[in-house]
Amino acid sequence: MFKNLWKNRVKLVEKNLIVELKKNPALEEKLANAMEYSLMAGGKRLRPILLMAAADAVNGTGEKFLTVATAMEMIHTYSLIHDDLPAMDNDDYRRGKLTNHKVFGEATAILAGDALLTLAFEVITRQENISPEILLQIVKEFSTAAGQSGMVGGQSIDLESEGKKIDMATLKKMHLGKTGALFKAAIRSGAILAGANFQQLDALTIYAEKFGLAFQITDDILDVVGDEKNLGKPIGSDEKNNKSTYVTLTSLDTAKNLAQSAVDDAVDALEIFGAEADFLRELVKYLIGRNK
Ligand code: IPE
Ligand code: IPE
Ligand code: MG
Ligand code: MG
Ligand code: MG
Repeated sequence: MFKNLWKNRVKLVEKNLIVELKKNPALEEKLANAMEYSLMAGGKRLRPILLMAAADAVNGTGEKFLTVATAMEMIHTYSLIHDDLPAMDNDDYRRGKLTNHKVFGEATAILAGDALLTLAFEVITRQENISPEILLQIVKEFSTAAGQSGMVGGQSIDLESEGKKIDMATLKKMHLGKTGALFKAAIRSGAILAGANFQQLDALTIYAEKFGLAFQITDDILDVVGDEKNLGKPIGSDEKNNKSTYVTLTSLDTAKNLAQSAVDDAVDALEIFGAEADFLRELVKYLIGRNK
């Protein structure tokens, strides 16, 4: 049931991604192709799925916000294209395919990322079934999460920490930024769109923070013990770049324990919800045992 819903929603997201992408005529074909290449390369589509699941937990309205959810996937995909660039992690594979810059060149990959980030906000402003006040709140959630106090800030800590021994507080800050921020914005936005009250929004925000933590610890673990074929991206990327991760700062076993306790905390945060939040509970439990 949980996996079927996930699968069905992935289909909806992927259909919607193409629709939104094609709404504007392509000014330059190579750039348009580069955007479509990474956007449609697969991926778990977790952030849009989480946005809809949060709205479902509040009042079952998840699919009403499919297009806003889709916009979040555009921001995420942009972050991956730039993360893989030679100046950043210099990786050759992503989502089981060659990375964007390997196919289209670095300059186009940079522009494809830029264009996906801005397209996300254009898509949000196209939503006529959502009030301008609420849309403004969503723009605030998305932009704050994507920028220097969120994802980009976390990526900067990541780069500045290469080859250095950082402390646990810095590592946490980095994870909350580079990975946690977009998850948090996705979940909070779903809740806000569905009209969550303060208590519901608080609970879902805590869930989101714990989810992000469990997710990135697992990403760090999979970079060491994962299988490239399943993951669709290279393992050993963190070691190659002398990154500080949960595994390098603690140990594989401690990292696994920390991920598990983040999952427990995430589930505990949903206490005020009934069965309508079961998808969120199942998802976070599933994701630390994932192989991709
Ligand atoms: C990978 O994110 C980058 C991180 C934030 C760790 P995902 O694991 O969600 O990547 P896709 O979207 O499924 O490819
Ligand atoms: C980067 O983390 C997360 C973002 C893209 C913001 P990683 O560099 O660990 O992500 P992967 O492992 O390449 O997917
Ligand atoms: Mg990185
Ligand atoms: Mg990377
Ligand atoms: Mg990683």
